[in-house]
Amino acid sequence: MKHRLKSGRDIELKLSEDGSHTLFVPELNEHYHSVYGAKTESIHVFINSGLKHLNKENIRILEIGFGTGLNALLTALYKGNHKIEYHSIEKYPLNTEIEKQLQISENTTPEEKNLFDDIHSCKWNTESEIIPGFKLLKIEADLLTFSFTHKYDLVYFDAFGPDVQPEMWSTGIFRKIYNSMNKNGILTTYSAKGAVRRAMQDVGFRVERLPGPPHKREMLRASKV
Ligand SMILES: C[S@@+](CC[C@H](N)C(=O)[O-])C[C@H]1O[C@@H](n2cnc3c(N)ncnc32)[C@H](O)[C@@H]1O
Repeated sequence: MKHRLKSGRDIELKLSEDGSHTLFVPELNEHYHSVYGAKTESIHVFINSGLKHLNKENIRILEIGFGTGLNALLTALYKGNHKIEYHSIEKYPLNTEIEKQLQISENTTPEEKNLFDDIHSCKWNTESEIIPGFKLLKIEADLLTFSFTHKYDLVYFDAFGPDVQPEMWSTGIFRKIYNSMNKNGILTTYSAKGAVRRAMQDVGFRVERLPGPPHKREMLRASKV
């Protein structure tokens, strides 16, 4: 099904192979997630390789690209005993109409659905406590011009791919993010492109190549040591 965002961008709702929805942007010929499993990819790249890798009670997370809110939802579901402040930047927020149609999986519980609804309905640019210990700040802004005022422990780098949006994967952007991270902070991303890895190393990150999600050989985890 096709939708037009308030920014004028057209997007289409698509079901990925694990039964979770993703979105397709015809203008970029790019999906928001892996078509082999949106939820599977997000759990692998951001939860298992990022959140579960941090040994800290209070965690401030920065997400690049709020999109469908899937990473925010999964983080709230997997937060365990952590206290999390989750900041997410998005240039093209979705319409309520699309958000209401988003399916997380074929057997979503009512609790998960309610949590997803609360993540979508909370106000932009205002911090909201969605569940005890999980605060969300959705920031409507362009990463390219945004100035950070907080320090982060964990970064979910989930921009569109470096082939379609190279300006988001530049040394300048990685330097800006590196400078806004705490020591021992980590950044994970689904991309394993050599140019991306080198841009991260150029600004000071120590970068590891890890096994990727289904149908992807590798992904990257960068640490500020
Ligand atoms: C790969 S999708 C992110 C998927 C999202 N994390 C999710 O779970 O649905 C990339 C996101 O980055 C957003 N984006 C694109 N350019 C941006 C920019 N310059 N600043 C901030 N967000 C941007 C897109 O609108 C899109 O939502």
